Amino acid sequence: MNNQPRVAINAGGSIIAPDQIDAAFLRQISDLLIEVTRTYDLLVVVGGGRTARMYIEACRELGADENYLDRVGIDATRLNARLLISALQEKVHRDVPSTVDDALRASSEHQIVVMGGTHPGHTTDTVSAMLAERSGARELLILTNIDGVYTTDPRKDPDAERLSRITTSQLVDIVSEGQYKAGSTAVVDPVAAGIIHRAGILTKVMDGRDLDQVSAALAGDDFIGTVVAPGD
Ligand code: UTP
Repeated sequence: MNNQPRVAINAGGSIIAPDQIDAAFLRQISDLLIEVTRTYDLLVVVGGGRTARMYIEACRELGADENYLDRVGIDATRLNARLLISALQEKVHRDVPSTVDDALRASSEHQIVVMGGTHPGHTTDTVSAMLAERSGARELLILTNIDGVYTTDPRKDPDAERLSRITTSQLVDIVSEGQYKAGSTAVVDPVAAGIIHRAGILTKVMDGRDLDQVSAALAGDDFIGTVVAPGD
């Protein structure tokens, strides 16, 4: 049985499976995760990225309905989970749990559990927030392709500013409809933000390709990104 504190990690598809799969990067991030298991047990949720988009677009063109397309997306997230599991080799549960409950069960036997999506109708952001909530994780790391939460979409607005520290309530406001500025969905979806707020989950958002920052965040040091602290 494992009983170290748990950390949940949302590894976006853009990090784990960008346009070209980067085996060298997967090895580097795996080495970091294995190192971290000296201190924490890890629950990792992997996104679908380009693989999901490519298959969803093709299946939509072929006439599949939205529920079916979600299931196609879930398959892509699970395929990406297998990429990371292949790189992790040791300490990792070799199967991809299909529910949060299964992941929690696997986590009692393995120091690292990697999963993808669960059910149609949400994204892996929500799965990682649910997993963090259910597991009582110490914190949730969101590894994405933007180095934090911005006031507006930094890819479209040159005046966008990175917010180094916000509350979970502010996160909900930033991503919720109306106030939300197109593009920053890349950080976290509104359902996930709601869970993060209600459960009071300390959340850290950073560019997952910058492993020095990921390492610093996991060590509790300063990092380039955004700390989302529980509160109003
Ligand atoms: P992602 O979680 O990668 O979606 O799942 P995303 O937020 O659109 O992609 P990123 O974060 O920009 O990489 C891919 C797709 O799989 C389906 C959804 O259709 C989602 O858009 N999915 C995923 C589900 O239906 N349920 C899940 O639990 C996870």
